[in-house]
Amino acid sequence: MTATIVVGTQWGDEGKGKFTDLIAKEMTMVVRYQGGHNAGHTLVVDGESFALQLVPSGVLYDHIVPVIGNGVVVDPVVLLAEMDKLTAKGVDCSRLRVSGNAHVIFPYHQELDRLIERHLGKNKLGTTKRGIGPTYADKAARVGIRLQDMLDPKIFREKLRVVVAEKNLMLAKIYNRLGFDADELADRYLEEVVPRLRPHIADTVALVHEAIEAGQQVLFEGAQATFLDIDHGTYPFVTSSNPVAGGACVGAGVGPRHIDRVVGIAKAYVTRVGSGPFPTELFDADGDKLRDIGREYGTNTGRPRRCGWFDVPMMRQAVRLNSLSEIALTKLDILDTFDTVKVCVAYDIGGERVEHLPYHQSDFHAAVPIYEELPGWKQDLSAFTQRAQLPAEAQRYLEFLEAQVGVPITLVGTGPGRDQFVHFS
Ligand code: GDP
Ligand code: IMO
Ligand code: MG
Repeated sequence: MTATIVVGTQWGDEGKGKFTDLIAKEMTMVVRYQGGHNAGHTLVVDGESFALQLVPSGVLYDHIVPVIGNGVVVDPVVLLAEMDKLTAKGVDCSRLRVSGNAHVIFPYHQELDRLIERHLGKNKLGTTKRGIGPTYADKAARVGIRLQDMLDPKIFREKLRVVVAEKNLMLAKIYNRLGFDADELADRYLEEVVPRLRPHIADTVALVHEAIEAGQQVLFEGAQATFLDIDHGTYPFVTSSNPVAGGACVGAGVGPRHIDRVVGIAKAYVTRVGSGPFPTELFDADGDKLRDIGREYGTNTGRPRRCGWFDVPMMRQAVRLNSLSEIALTKLDILDTFDTVKVCVAYDIGGERVEHLPYHQSDFHAAVPIYEELPGWKQDLSAFTQRAQLPAEAQRYLEFLEAQVGVPITLVGTGPGRDQFVHFS
């Protein structure tokens, strides 16, 4: 086995960071393949918490080369600050490599992200305001600037002048805002960013293939999640990249034949930040309880996350979209105190029972969950490490999900710590 993908199966924040870190122990390289610093991946090691935004989750191991692939959008100022923070905590970031083909997030992208959201008013997407959408838009429009462009000052200045002139027109004419000074931006980045980032910028496609050819284990770490995917998610309430497993091929430069294993990360319930449909969302005391016990507030933005019960039809779709070979279920411990635990097994759409995700989004908006209610286990799971030790009701819950979704659950999270998990298979 050489290549594994870790992918979020819901609307993000499933605990990808924790399980990427755990699975990474056996790997030699961890590659982020899409997204940017809209991600917030939390690792808790020996009681110390690390909130990673751009740096891949394998960074805490000395034997791992962390790689940021071509599919990621990089704010270099944020990346350097994150590396500084990690270095101050004793983490060695010298092995980090970033694709020269990764597109750069500039301050005008963040400004546009904020202005577009404001302009949308009540129809806003609830983005992280990190400039993700505008940067991917520039990439698709072929006016984006890649990290490698910054290594050629003449090209960098030229490209920046062209694109900043266009952005300034947009800022002035549409949003009545002051623009940016392309030369000042170029000077600043060439002076403050390029000298520090240069040793990390690399041909990451070559690095990944050299590792694979040498028989090493490579892990691709997805950010965001399946239902935030721009093609397969709840458009327009999505991010601007392809978090699904196929995105790893594009965003890192490998073909599908290299991938042997796809681990879907799912929370034992569902959360979502930002706008968009969410059939099992709870507006009652159970929702508040999930949020409180699960500490469901954004790692980055601090926004409260919307909470609801586990949704099987969504997971069946995630299995299809990502060819999941297994599921790692996180935060089972958050359900410890519930008398009963509900699972949405199908939707009622206009009086009809539907077991898969409806193709038309209006139907998804109208979907009423059909629940099965299982007994809770009413026990603290945080100290368990063996499947056989788990209370019978917790085992029943996991077996029920496996039977409903049709894919084995192989790992179960019982707490935020690196060691708090149970091998379930
Ligand atoms: P990611 O974006 O998918 O990496 O997830 P986040 O880090 O944004 O959010 C997941 C949160 O749950 C983090 O605070 C983790 O430390 C925490 N977490 C992960 N797995 C578990 C688990 O099994 N139990 C508990 N209680 N917390 C967990
Ligand atoms: P991780 O990797 C949860 C959501 C935002 C918003 C939508 C678009 O930590 O799971 P964007 O800034 O990407 O244009 O916002 O996507 N979103 C996330 N939600 N976890 C994330 O990342 C997210 N990254 C983006 O809240 O609804
Ligand atoms: Mg997160």
